[in-house]
Amino acid sequence: MNQDTLNTLIQTATQVRTHAHAPYSHFPVGAAVLDEHGNIHHGCNVENAAYPSGSCAEEQAIGSMVASGGRKIKAIVVTGISDRPITPCGACRQRIREFADSDTQIYICHVEEGVQKVFSIDGLLPYSFGPDNLKGI
Ligand code: THU
Repeated sequence: MNQDTLNTLIQTATQVRTHAHAPYSHFPVGAAVLDEHGNIHHGCNVENAAYPSGSCAEEQAIGSMVASGGRKIKAIVVTGISDRPITPCGACRQRIREFADSDTQIYICHVEEGVQKVFSIDGLLPYSFGPDNLKGI
């Protein structure tokens, strides 16, 4: 992925973050996914008064990718404002895992400071359970 595409992903995640529905945590997050077709999909966190019914930005972005026909995450950007990098929650690591490969780049960004960390899925979720684990059953 070139720098222009990364910049577009960051801008997309930053923009969609402004639409986050986060009245409970006051912690808006934006995410943007680049798929195997070169298409970009976005998502923001959508909280709910019944707290467990809320969803993460990555969850929305990945759902949008799948609904559009994408099946591979080439890169994903997650952005917000926090002293600590906003690393995906456990469930979202598994969601990324479903559509990632060893080359998938996971960029954790700060809205004002840019890229803070870059991970692979193996770095975030070692010894993960994935589609191959279901082969041969
Ligand atoms: N959140 C995300 O959307 N993505 C992350 O990677 C971390 C956390 C959301 C969930 C919840 O709405 C709020 O941030 C606080 O946890």
